[in-house]
Amino acid sequence: MSLSGLAAPQTHAFELRYPAAYDDSEGNCMRQGLAFALGYLRNPRRVGAIAPASKALAQAILHEVLRAEPTVLIEVGAGTGAITRALLPALSRVERFMVIERDPGFAQLLRKNFPDLEVLHHCATRLDALDIEARCPVTVVSSLPLLSMQREEAHGCIDAMVALIENRPGSRLIQYTYASPHLRPFKDIPIGWRWRRAASIWANLPPATVWTLEQASHPSHPSHTHNGFH
Ligand SMILES: C[S@@+](CC[C@H](N)C(=O)[O-])C[C@H]1O[C@@H](n2cnc3c(N)ncnc32)[C@H](O)[C@@H]1O
Repeated sequence: MSLSGLAAPQTHAFELRYPAAYDDSEGNCMRQGLAFALGYLRNPRRVGAIAPASKALAQAILHEVLRAEPTVLIEVGAGTGAITRALLPALSRVERFMVIERDPGFAQLLRKNFPDLEVLHHCATRLDALDIEARCPVTVVSSLPLLSMQREEAHGCIDAMVALIENRPGSRLIQYTYASPHLRPFKDIPIGWRWRRAASIWANLPPATVWTLEQASHPSHPSHTHNGFH
């Protein structure tokens, strides 16, 4: 099975139209907060947080995305689009930016707020169905609440995300967690890959840690740059 709407890659060479996405007004923030709360009520375990990502967290993720040079950027579990919005500056650096969200209400909101992005209302377990060239560097940004989701679904999502990046040199997975800043998002990672803790954001509700899964030989890994920690 292939995901619908995958054939037409988006490039940065289009005019951006993001009326609501750039609206930082108090009213819009409240609307986003309300949309998030409704999503939480629809499925607390799958949403896994009581508030959208803060600007500080979204900026930390953008910073991490910009450390590498992916051809394709994929955000999974985009919710109300707090991180999607922060990632827009990365559009000029990638050929394609896809947004994947399982909740129908969130997917509809994302399509409305980001009309020029490829928003796919789909489960992250089906990342294998994406039409992405072999060996093309991919960065996956995941907001998936892997600890609170149903175990089987979480495992399916992890397998799909790892399979997508594993054989594409230069690919990475950026995952944030609300757990202890010392706890890696998941343990079963391919040989030769490592987790790097990129940032801890205490000003987020709840505090969050951003982790990057990358090949140990990746230039941004601390064994190469000597300025980070494992
Ligand atoms: C922590 S919330 C996302 C927060 C988002 N970054 C924001 O600030 O609005 C997790 C999101 O993952 C989505 N999600 C959960 N399981 C999913 C799955 N299997 N596939 C795709 N999205 C999923 C939820 O619907 C929810 O929108």
